[in-house]
Amino acid sequence: MAIAAAPEPKANMGPPAIRLEARQKVTGGARYAADVALTNPAYAYLFTSAIAKGVIIKLDLDEAAATPGVLDILSCRNAQDILVSMILRSAQAMKLIEKPEIRHAGQIVAVVVANTFEAAREAAFKIKATYDEYPPSATLDSRGVKIELASEGSDDHEDPQVGSAAKALKAAKVTVGEMYETPAQHHNAIELFATTCAWKDDELTIHEPSQFVYGLRRDVATNAGLDPKKIRVISKLVGGAFGGKGRPTTRTALIALAAERAKRPVKLVATRSQNFTIGRYRAETRHRVQLGATAAGALEALEHDGWELTGRHDSFFTGGTDTTARMYAAPNVRTKVSIVHADRAQAGYMRAPAETPYVYALETALDELAVKLGVDPVELRRINDTQRDPITHAPYTSRSLMQCYDEAALAFGWSRRKPDAGSMRDGDWQVGWGCATAVYPTRMTAAAARVTLTRQGDVRVETAAHELGTGALTVIAQTASERFGVGLAGVHVELGDTMLPPGGMAADSSTTASACSAVLKACDMIRDQLFEAATSGVGAPLHGRDVSSLRLADAHVVGPDGAKETLDVVFARLGTEAISHAAEWVPPGLDNGALAQLHMGDISYGGGPMKDRAMFAFGAEFVEVRVHSLTREIRVPRMIGAFAAGRIMNTRTARSQLMGGMIWGIGSALHEETEIDAARGRYLNDNLGDYLVPVNADVGAVDVILVPEEDDQVNPAGVKGLGELGIVGTAAAISNAVFHATGTRVRKLPIRIENLL
Ligand code: MOS
Repeated sequence: MAIAAAPEPKANMGPPAIRLEARQKVTGGARYAADVALTNPAYAYLFTSAIAKGVIIKLDLDEAAATPGVLDILSCRNAQDILVSMILRSAQAMKLIEKPEIRHAGQIVAVVVANTFEAAREAAFKIKATYDEYPPSATLDSRGVKIELASEGSDDHEDPQVGSAAKALKAAKVTVGEMYETPAQHHNAIELFATTCAWKDDELTIHEPSQFVYGLRRDVATNAGLDPKKIRVISKLVGGAFGGKGRPTTRTALIALAAERAKRPVKLVATRSQNFTIGRYRAETRHRVQLGATAAGALEALEHDGWELTGRHDSFFTGGTDTTARMYAAPNVRTKVSIVHADRAQAGYMRAPAETPYVYALETALDELAVKLGVDPVELRRINDTQRDPITHAPYTSRSLMQCYDEAALAFGWSRRKPDAGSMRDGDWQVGWGCATAVYPTRMTAAAARVTLTRQGDVRVETAAHELGTGALTVIAQTASERFGVGLAGVHVELGDTMLPPGGMAADSSTTASACSAVLKACDMIRDQLFEAATSGVGAPLHGRDVSSLRLADAHVVGPDGAKETLDVVFARLGTEAISHAAEWVPPGLDNGALAQLHMGDISYGGGPMKDRAMFAFGAEFVEVRVHSLTREIRVPRMIGAFAAGRIMNTRTARSQLMGGMIWGIGSALHEETEIDAARGRYLNDNLGDYLVPVNADVGAVDVILVPEEDDQVNPAGVKGLGELGIVGTAAAISNAVFHATGTRVRKLPIRIENLL
């Protein structure tokens, strides 16, 4: 029997290969960006703003500069001098800190460089900034925020709608309409934001954990006024990213500049609390969801209005209505997304950035509708299931939502649920069972890869994709291993380096689908060449065979009748020791322009809701909660999720991703929130002690069911991607279960004891 961590593969699933870097990681041999040893490094420490809005009127650096070991301090004080000294380059980097204006709390104000980390830190603590401080508008409800429609602030957002939702809502037999709210959250990857920059003559090497090394290179080239060809970014293993390492932060160009001035490598590891302010975050959102249905539960109308906070001067938003508008067969849909500009840092992407908050709102509203109708929540989803995108009427390439519900409901024992809230009890504990849908668009980027096969049957795969802990390295190796019929031990994969062909951005759950499609293409070019040689050799065992009937196995080219020839001989006929091919792959919905963009370090996504077809992965999540009748403590003893996401490359890494997402969903529902001092615009719990995430004691049984699904339309690998799928729906399932246990509907996350008193 397969152990739980390595589920037995079902149809269209690959074997549970162990992560190739697993031993390295558990034995401490893995080297992350900040671990790379360089000769004679200097150390940087960031000095960040204590206020959220205002101007620095005085920056006293004297005491800091006099600290023994201090080499340099970059700040608005010397920005002009540095700019002048770098007259030959544009040196945008200094512009990042040249102005004394403060736009958000924790903004980088100065970079101290010293011989040791301790000296740099001591000096940073001695910097004295005097501010002219203005009251910030820091939250959704603060006076002075500016609200803008996403459709007006952005060229590529159109609010999905169809039919006449207002009219249908008015006419509907049964309606619900409520507001929902989700908090700000910060990616707290264990690996902190680290950057090491080293120059050799006019060439710069950057070691930094990244979800997109080509994008980081481009950003630094722009901000430090450099030629991208002279920059190399290396990011071999990333210790957790979750979106936090996707977009470059200003720190990198500043450290590059600091290293140039110091004439030695400069290493920065920002502190945990600085990780809350120098990067981006999942901003707080608010939703109004209105549903109208027939008495039998068929949706007639769906309205979803979303508000998302971001910085004063940026137009970031996630726009989750692109997904919630398409989940169920509502004939009349109206959506609207608004951006709320506040005196905060730019918001950004965090695991399932759009779906986590938006699907929470919709799936909670759906549960409220089920209660009002007296219909079982699973049946309500079945009644409104669809195989067509309700907005475009284009077919889903595959959609196994109800198979997921059926399998998970059976495993959970859902049929034993008593429908009335508060009706299930075990001693002092009120028991609640809830469910919700998980969904994630199948997105893909253009990707390039180079594959080499040697006469001995060794394989080398090179692509600047990224290993964030997800298993990318392993599934990429599996792709080549399967295609060439060689064992995993014979496959070497190189990732995370701008010296390699660009493998896409490790975001939007796109890596497996994108990088593996490029790798497949390169593998097939090699196979074609081998098959051509095997069938053209006069007197050779496979002479004259149809190349499409051949395969590779055990270092042989094999025909359908079992006739075969060794690779050794085929290579000899070709007169070569190794065959190498580079391939580029462009996803459905994009053209070759996406490749040009990719090589320059920019990215576009194909897939998802397209005009002629819709590509989404689905799942169903069931949870049991227990709420103590006296203390109101909330526990989650068990969760079951069933997911269908096209081909599963590796049941071990897939399960691990989905389980991790579900556990993070417990955090979304019950723990996680960046608390904000509204008056000062500062974060109150910017450390791992006060920022709550689920720990072992918070997590009960978590079962993942992989539901077989085939989809040959999404990409050649048949993969939909599932890195973010697991977190979507969990918070709603838990919130729905809390209602079922207690009869109290909490519409703001996280749900804590005080909400149930
Ligand atoms: Mo991920 S949150 O799509 O970088």
